[in-house]
Amino acid sequence: MKTKTIECDILIVGGGMAGCGAAYEARYWGRNLNIVLVEKAQIERSGAVAMGLSAINCYMGMRWNENTPEDFVRYTRNDLMGLVREDLEFDIARHVDSTVHLFEEWGLPIIYDQQTGHYKREGRWQILIHGESYKPIVAEAAAKAVTKVYNRIMITHLLTDTSNPNRIAGASGFGVRDGTFYLFRAKAVIVAAGGATHIFRPRSVGEGAGRTWYAPWSTGSAYGLLIGAGAEMTQMENKLVVTRFKDGYGPVGAWFLALKAVATNAYGEDYELKYKEDQRALYGNYVDAKPFPTCLRNDAMYREIKAGRYPIYLHTERVLDTREKEELGHEDFLDMTMSQTIVWASQNIDPKTTPSELLMSEPYIMGSHATCSGAWASGPEDVSPKEYFWGYNRMTTVEGLFGAGDTIGGSAHKFSSGSFTEGRLAGKAAVSYVMDHSDSKPEVSDRKGEELRKEIFQPMENFKLGRNLITKGTVSPSYLYADQAVVRLEKIMDEYVGGWGSMYTTNEILLNRGWELLTMLREDLAHIAAENLHQLQRAWELHHRVVTAEAVLRHTLFRKETRWPGYCYRADFPKLDDDNWHVFVNSKYDRSTGNWKLFKRPCIRLVS
Ligand code: FAD
Ligand code: ADX
Repeated sequence: MKTKTIECDILIVGGGMAGCGAAYEARYWGRNLNIVLVEKAQIERSGAVAMGLSAINCYMGMRWNENTPEDFVRYTRNDLMGLVREDLEFDIARHVDSTVHLFEEWGLPIIYDQQTGHYKREGRWQILIHGESYKPIVAEAAAKAVTKVYNRIMITHLLTDTSNPNRIAGASGFGVRDGTFYLFRAKAVIVAAGGATHIFRPRSVGEGAGRTWYAPWSTGSAYGLLIGAGAEMTQMENKLVVTRFKDGYGPVGAWFLALKAVATNAYGEDYELKYKEDQRALYGNYVDAKPFPTCLRNDAMYREIKAGRYPIYLHTERVLDTREKEELGHEDFLDMTMSQTIVWASQNIDPKTTPSELLMSEPYIMGSHATCSGAWASGPEDVSPKEYFWGYNRMTTVEGLFGAGDTIGGSAHKFSSGSFTEGRLAGKAAVSYVMDHSDSKPEVSDRKGEELRKEIFQPMENFKLGRNLITKGTVSPSYLYADQAVVRLEKIMDEYVGGWGSMYTTNEILLNRGWELLTMLREDLAHIAAENLHQLQRAWELHHRVVTAEAVLRHTLFRKETRWPGYCYRADFPKLDDDNWHVFVNSKYDRSTGNWKLFKRPCIRLVS
């Protein structure tokens, strides 16, 4: 196996929406800098937007006076039951329109409303696009901006400076096609490695294994890498559960917002606001927010399901009454979630005549949808209070380490355009950081490099030695495969940390037992075997998933209330408790001792 050492000024990890935004903007400000982007897949079709999208879910429309950044802050605050970093939300909102205009300039077809001449709205914040080629269009701009794109290299570890463990120095990884060991030395690193699926057991198992709503290749690297480097995390307990078309996981936004379809229980009753007063007793006046918060919509569905009044139906057949609407409905999935179209075809469902079943998904960990897990980051200096500002926008608590998109916590509803925008903000700030520190060069010791090389390829060694002990099949006395271990992880999280199999419900006793089981799984990670480079990638994805799961569990244990019903219920603390928990839950992992520290950070209101 070869070793390659790459020197650069700025290293971008992950070439999805946020990574592409970081690449574009870093080049704009850092004309002469050496900017490198590393992607475990191929940026033209990588990340959550790989299949394409049918809408851009974050657009203010300020040139047409449709919304202000303050409106967006109020919306996200209400939807997240009072807890968002308003400085970060505001910062995204004030810049996101310019990002969307760039996309259009680069060739993304955005649909116009013929009457108003504005972009056609799906909802107040969402606009409609013909988005099958969204990712290649965005990736082309990023590829042109950077010094070099390294495709098909999985980053496994972030590296810190030999003399300052809280200063980033680069990253290590391996070529998933040729097994080259890579050591990247960088003055600043921007992590944009997406969210996390397959932490919790998916609903699709057996013949549908692997199918999830959020991309199965979103493997928690953003969190695993950052936590390992000592970055402070926030809101990791804010898991996301989304209402989706059953089996194909088709998104619902276009159907509810643009097509105005209604969901009912099995008996035809519109249940969404049916439980409002019961919800008020538990969760307070957040129930009066408009639109009705995402987690409370889930909670209403959950109550119907618990009462046995399911399936829940989305009445597509009541709204596809014109050719235009029919096209919109089909294009929604053909652009974005082909699997749903395939489910329709394979289950004899014609949406014009037959309603579709809806169901709540397994939990995901994300920072860009109706949830805000991720790293605790500095905000912009002109907006952030002192508690939220430490020098560079979107810099984590590790010096020189930045993040964007799903990586950054506290700012929900960024979606694709907001993630790209946050990448731009991080890219600009990283350039400032590199220029301000032009006289210092962080170092990674050669010994550290050698240790990492050995550690990264250990699963292949485990396979080589251990396979001789197997007499039949894949059951080995000395090792386990990544796909066996991921099933074990999903089972632990599902049964103890509030997955769909436990009706999203947990308590302190369950969580403590879950922790014991997770600790045993962590110990067994030393015995993962990889038969080839593909399995080696699965092994490192698993490592990142397990670290992410640990953070989720610790955070869920710490927050002693039910803040987001419909995402997670603490049965031992069933009420929302603003007196004690109108705060962010943050954590820090100590790499030397393996201990987690959890604590509260204030949630400061900036917009009235
Ligand atoms: P991603 O775009 O997922 O990028 C992460 C990148 O990091 C990927 O390219 C990945 O391969 C790479 N990576 C991960 N780990 C590593 C590693 N260890 N080493 C190297 N590279 C790594 N948004 C909208 O605006 N409108 C919609 O209609 C919409 N619908 C959606 C429908 C679906 C089915 C899905 C899955 C998402 C949808 N979204 C939508 C959300 C949007 O896609 C995300 O919010 C956005 O892509 C997040 O950006 P990101 O850069 O954080 O992550
Ligand atoms: S997507 O990311 O896969 O496209 P989804 O279809 O759930 O997500 O939502 C798209 C957009 O519509 C998001 O901005 C979401 O918050 C919003 N949305 C979905 N359903 C509703 C609803 N019933 N009421 C208000 N907003 C909704």
